[in-house]
Amino acid sequence: MKWVDATRLLTEPTIDSSDPIWLELKLVAESLRSGGKIALPTETVYGLAADALNSNAAESIFELKGRPADNPLIVHISQTRDLNDLAQNIPPQALLLAERFWPGPLTMVFPKQNHVPSVTTGGLDTVAVRLPSHPVARTLLSIADRYLAAPSANRFMGLSPTRAQDLDPLISEGLDFVVDGGPCDQGIESTVVDLTGNPTILRPGTVSAEVLASVLGEMPLIRTSGEKSSPGMYRKHYSPRTPVMLVETLHPLAVGLKLGETKLESQISMPLNPNGYAQWLYASLAELDRRDVDLIEIEMPPKTGAWAAIWDRLNKIIG
Ligand code: TXA
Ligand code: MG
Repeated sequence: MKWVDATRLLTEPTIDSSDPIWLELKLVAESLRSGGKIALPTETVYGLAADALNSNAAESIFELKGRPADNPLIVHISQTRDLNDLAQNIPPQALLLAERFWPGPLTMVFPKQNHVPSVTTGGLDTVAVRLPSHPVARTLLSIADRYLAAPSANRFMGLSPTRAQDLDPLISEGLDFVVDGGPCDQGIESTVVDLTGNPTILRPGTVSAEVLASVLGEMPLIRTSGEKSSPGMYRKHYSPRTPVMLVETLHPLAVGLKLGETKLESQISMPLNPNGYAQWLYASLAELDRRDVDLIEIEMPPKTGAWAAIWDRLNKIIG
């Protein structure tokens, strides 16, 4: 595995082809074009990426993650018009959503085009597509000139990494490259919306139901649990190795995530607003998970709609 530090793209998103980083990313892109696997930063979480239209490459993502074959991957594109190459029956509402939220943390599900391998879609005849905004993801997508299948870069059921240093060594050892693009600024996975029928949220995210409704002109349905609504939506998911418990108020002797300020070494202070909280949730859990502790306690955030996506993840973390 080779490590590529591409954090400079955060401040200089446009680099030219003589830049040393561009040359390094070109090697990463070549690896993707020949079936390689990499960890790449997106604005939500780090992805484990490979060529989405290469069945062997997609297959190797499942192997490295230890992910069941019926759990479909999200395909990442670099421009909205690529959607036509992957999906069919794209409703006008989808284009409105793309216009408003792409590039960004929204994934849309459509009937797939025939050439999208069924290994990528977990055997389904639908495909999930997303156009990420992270400058490193965008640069790599365009240099590689491939669609990239990228689930979160964790082992099955593990915590999604939101910083390159949080990658599980079991994952990084199996990769051709790890591309470091700094900490992800959303911190939780994209909102997934099924557009094969009435718009339906399959996974909540920072693009909320209310904000989707403002574009759709109607409230989307919400179906985030239940058998096979979206394969891969297991009740327990996204968990650190250490047991985790939710508490009303964090005891001063407890190890865990504290809402607001704390000066205790054993506790991590979490932002009081949902976006800031989401951004640091997985990184903070990863941090505590690396310490040799018996239990991580999480002080419960408010139960209002603004915290819905965070509650979805907290419920999956505790299982
Ligand atoms: O933010 C994200 O979406 C990250 C970054 C890397 O883009 N990716 C991610 O992928 O979270 P993953 O594989 O961990 O989660 C994909 C989710 C799963 O819940 C899966 O069931 C759903 O998307 N999904 C994928 N394809 C689908 C399909 N054809 N129909 C229904 N749900 C699908
Ligand atoms: Mg995941």
